[in-house]
Amino acid sequence: MSKTYTVTAALPYANGPIHIGHLAGVYIPADIYVRYLRRNGKDVLFVCGSDEHGVPVTIRAKKEGVSVQEVVNRYHELIKSTFEKLDISFNIYDRTSSAHHHQNAQDFFLKLNKNNVFLEKQTEQFYDEEAGEFLADRYIIGQCPNCGNENAYGDQCEKCGSTLSPEELINPKSALSGAKPQKRLTKNWYLPLNEYESFLREWVLENHSNDWKANVTGQVKSWLDDGLKPRAMTRDLDWGIPVPLDEGTGKVLYVWFDAPIGYISATQKWAEEHGKDWKKYWQGNETELIHFIGKDNIVFHCIIFPVMLKAHGEYILPTNVPANEFLNLENDKISTSRNWAVWAHEFVEDLPGKQDVLRYVLTANLPENKDNNFTWKDFQLKNNSELVGILGNFFNRVMVLIQKYFDGKVPTKTKNYPELENLHDFPEDIGRYLENFEFRNALKELMNLARLGNQFLQSQEPWKKIKTDEEEVKNILAASLEIAAMLAQCAGPFLPNASEKMLQMLDLEVLSWQELKEKRSFFSQAHSLGEAQLLFDKIEDDMVTAQLQKLENTKKNNQMTNPNAEAEKEEINFDDFQKVDLRVGTILEAKAVEKADRLLELKVDTGLDVRTIVSGIAESFSPQEVVGKKCTVLVNLAPRKIKGITSQGMLLFTENKDGKLVFVNPDNEVPNGAGIA
Ligand code: MF3
Ligand code: ZN
Repeated sequence: MSKTYTVTAALPYANGPIHIGHLAGVYIPADIYVRYLRRNGKDVLFVCGSDEHGVPVTIRAKKEGVSVQEVVNRYHELIKSTFEKLDISFNIYDRTSSAHHHQNAQDFFLKLNKNNVFLEKQTEQFYDEEAGEFLADRYIIGQCPNCGNENAYGDQCEKCGSTLSPEELINPKSALSGAKPQKRLTKNWYLPLNEYESFLREWVLENHSNDWKANVTGQVKSWLDDGLKPRAMTRDLDWGIPVPLDEGTGKVLYVWFDAPIGYISATQKWAEEHGKDWKKYWQGNETELIHFIGKDNIVFHCIIFPVMLKAHGEYILPTNVPANEFLNLENDKISTSRNWAVWAHEFVEDLPGKQDVLRYVLTANLPENKDNNFTWKDFQLKNNSELVGILGNFFNRVMVLIQKYFDGKVPTKTKNYPELENLHDFPEDIGRYLENFEFRNALKELMNLARLGNQFLQSQEPWKKIKTDEEEVKNILAASLEIAAMLAQCAGPFLPNASEKMLQMLDLEVLSWQELKEKRSFFSQAHSLGEAQLLFDKIEDDMVTAQLQKLENTKKNNQMTNPNAEAEKEEINFDDFQKVDLRVGTILEAKAVEKADRLLELKVDTGLDVRTIVSGIAESFSPQEVVGKKCTVLVNLAPRKIKGITSQGMLLFTENKDGKLVFVNPDNEVPNGAGIA
């Protein structure tokens, strides 16, 4: 193993919160790996940050009707604090909208430009003449040629899932103005990926076919076999890092050009704050660069970014890119747009103190080689039967027995048990798995250690022997305690909180992984145990039910044809409805109510009588506008005094999408007093 490691975790887009799929795909395995390396005394830098450019953020801002900066600020803070609450131990969590990163990405671009790396090419791109902007594919909406969905995007139809190009849409329209997009010539700077094919073939397929994961080399091979094409590194958009050339005004760097440079910018910022040399982490020959990513990022981290680094000339290339597949939720694809996710920030709110449990369950279900599934039932089961039932149970039994029989003092061991002779194989095996990015196997080994402890106690039955052979019980418990100590030490990378608690209870310091492999005994004589603390507690059905209910609600919401409609009210019976007396009426007179901006005083012919009704509609209508209008009146509402005027009933309105009130009015033919039922 080298001495220095730069470990990156894919920069999440600051267009929404992160969910368990992100955690399982990238951040939890990366964190386990980094914690392990640190325990090996390596000089590790773990960097991440928010990816704040790109079309997804601008779309989010449009949707919410706020500025892009506001969107990225909000999600940057949310994501950053969520990672902290989940104990993801980045050395720095940076962001790509920082001035430093802008400068750094521009310098990188200029260096490639100076090296004559780019191809300058004129192409026709879709342009919105009304908005005066070029249109990203996402900003073109039209009918899907495959399923007829009227609202398909220029890159994808979310209804049938097919990948599209804007040319394929029937009746394409700009999402900005509704105008028909026109083709317009524009020049951009292209990275000629095709010129790097033989380099990529040799580097990935020949040199790394054994140490990289098969899903990663497989994807790279298929890209290479399909033939690489030059890819535009500048875009005609207005949100992003300006292209640092006079002639490039109005263009920005492609988000996938600037984002990975964000890893370098973050390193530089961290190095400056800590008095370190950033170059060691990106240009040192002895440094291993490891990118943790999800499978949708493979082409960017194994083809485009390495070509950028190579073309620049001063950087090392990644030594490994452990990409994971996707995690499903309750057997359905996780989807931000359908809100089908367990959001990380909601998890830490809903289940405080359970971050180790989440880490455990996600690691056990990691989509390492194929997509995997998360269910709340399984979450409960793994917590109750594995963390509580195996790990917690063993550890707790050892603590309690030593407390009970020996007053919390570690008994002296005078005997070795053959079945426990190879305890140090556990850190050895776990370490090997982790170095191979086999996190599930590593976690299984950790649990096997806890299982071994339980089996040992079960077969030795110290609670029976205590009556007849205290000396033997001392040996049994001293040996069990060695298992508990090894467990506490090895759990660190996976379950950082539980591990810390266990070490406190054992009154032990954290040891390096090397020491674990060499260790024959953790306890010197006269060692006293610390106070017992709860490691894991049972998760009851009501918690699972509540989470499943939340997902049920999401499903209901997704069926709504108008996602903004209010939720349905509580059920009533026919008799309840029968009590409501609605009549057709006509407004005869209207005037403003003094000192009440929202109210109009109306005279309404209800067919039964002409009565006064005070109505909160003045923000939507002037008095003149409503005189003569047919309307629907709730006539048997108890009279109320409003601003000193007695109001006898209520008029019915609905609201248009801009929040303006709209009359619920019947046809003019219907006479006043006609009932509505
Ligand atoms: N924001 C991208 C995503 O969520 C990942 C960017 S990784 C980086 O898919 F390398 F570009 F930074
Ligand atoms: Zn479709």
